[in-house]
Amino acid sequence: MNMEERNYLVLGKLIERYGERPGGLIRVLQKAQELFGYLSRDVQTYVAEKMCLPVGHVHGVATFYSQFVTAPQGKYIISVCMGTACYVKNAPAILGRFREMLRVEPDETTGDRLFTLRTTRCIGACSMAPLLTVNRNVHGHLDVGDLESLLDRYRGQEKDEGVDEVDQEHERPAGDQRPAPPPG
Ligand code: FES
Repeated sequence: MNMEERNYLVLGKLIERYGERPGGLIRVLQKAQELFGYLSRDVQTYVAEKMCLPVGHVHGVATFYSQFVTAPQGKYIISVCMGTACYVKNAPAILGRFREMLRVEPDETTGDRLFTLRTTRCIGACSMAPLLTVNRNVHGHLDVGDLESLLDRYRGQEKDEGVDEVDQEHERPAGDQRPAPPPG
């Protein structure tokens, strides 16, 4: 049995257990996304058939809630803040530069499945504008000229899983607005 078959087996058991409970579909879709990485058409169809629901209904739920993704995601999700403070500090140029460098539009993923480009609204760290997040890391006070090296660092993490330690001045967990630590 391969991994995909095993995932369907696990999902099938979950549907038998929770499928008929209130909120069962959401729970099933959460588990399906955890298992498969995203909710493909095939997975949505499987869920619909097992739960005796119209595929359109399952698809509607999968696309309504922002927690669900219906296309393959990159390992690193780059979310460029387009809130007002970031916007006036050049966020559109930052987004444009990523589109050029990655050759994708917002909500698309690079062919190597390394990066997904997104935009986001204000994340409440406007003092660091313009900023973006890469997964849970916030990179603030950005300049268009910083972006190439930022991508290189994440590409480099494929060889060396140490990117979380890099550039502490510009990077901290989302929501943390404490002053940057002193250099050195
Ligand atoms: S506008 Fe970008 S963090 Fe607030």
